[in-house]
Amino acid sequence: MCSIRSVITGIGASLPKKYLTNFDLAEKMDTSDEWITKRTGIKRRYVAGEGETTASLATKAALSAIAHAKVSPRDIDLIIVATVSGDYIFPATAALVQRELEIRENCVAFDIGAACSGFIFAIDMADSYLKLGKAKCALVIGAETFSRLLDWNDRSTSILFGDGAGAVVLQALPYDTAVTASSMQPGIQFCRIYSDGMYADALKTSGGVSTTSSSGFVQMDGRCVFKNAIEKFNEMLTCAMEDNGLTIDDIDLIIPHQANVRIIEKLIENFGISRDKVLITVDKHANTSAASIPLSFNEVRDIVFSGKNVILLSMGAGFTWGYVFVKM
Ligand code: UT7
Repeated sequence: MCSIRSVITGIGASLPKKYLTNFDLAEKMDTSDEWITKRTGIKRRYVAGEGETTASLATKAALSAIAHAKVSPRDIDLIIVATVSGDYIFPATAALVQRELEIRENCVAFDIGAACSGFIFAIDMADSYLKLGKAKCALVIGAETFSRLLDWNDRSTSILFGDGAGAVVLQALPYDTAVTASSMQPGIQFCRIYSDGMYADALKTSGGVSTTSSSGFVQMDGRCVFKNAIEKFNEMLTCAMEDNGLTIDDIDLIIPHQANVRIIEKLIENFGISRDKVLITVDKHANTSAASIPLSFNEVRDIVFSGKNVILLSMGAGFTWGYVFVKM
């Protein structure tokens, strides 16, 4: 067994100042609160305004997580930002966060692009760095300004997404030798991440640097993504239970990627999970891609640090999907 465990010691989040309700959107395009609520569960989405960028939201979320973990920015030696809507093509948004936090030495900062699964991919990578002894205190951030990738004339995509950022501090700690070997100690217990590029066209932007010299707009085959999201959530929750010898009753909280309440309700139905064990925040934030899971996580940060067994589940463009099982 690895002698180091990576433990989540702080959680933070940040949202733009302004949000748009479904009623606001219905004034701009041919849609309605009734359609959006019934088909997606979304009631509002935050939209970045002037001066608000992915890096500025990421930095605010990071500072909140750092304060919550009671560490100093100087302790951070790894920054991973999961995003597909960074401030620039380069440098990495993580480098901008590093500059804002004034961390000059002994720190590596880079981005990961796995769309809605980005935060799970970033946790998996940070966990490996910590367990290999390559870092001691990681900042893992999911941050997006998806509103700037949307075609506001396309009602089938523009109503679905929002902006925001969430962050966790992950610290390398030794196992407590006073605790019996059979008891699970707080920390990341297991992660799995997957990709299948055969679905690359199902959810994508209509352009990119190397194809159109622009970012393009979000395009989605909604039904294909919907069907696959249900399948992947089922698969990952099954894997999480099998990998870790858990039953549904052993799990205290599931935090799925927040894209559509109907996808989450299908998971609840398929596994017969008690509704209060599954966090749903899609109504408040819409789909914020890589920020969705840490934004939800932040909603429970005052009650989750009590040894709770938490499963994070994701599915997104690529396709990419995965899970993290963490004991808090
Ligand atoms: O983040 C990665 C994961 N992302 C997801 O998981 C998203 C997965 N997909 C979905 O959540 C759903 O497919 C959507 C919410 C995007 C769409 O729901 P749907 O039940 O699959 O609707 P649909 O695309 O089949 O459209 C049904 C109807 C169409 O009209 P007709 O052809 O039946 O006359 C659309 O034109 O709804 C119409 N429609 C709208 N109506 C009012 C599409 N968008 C809107 C809208 N307002 N905003």
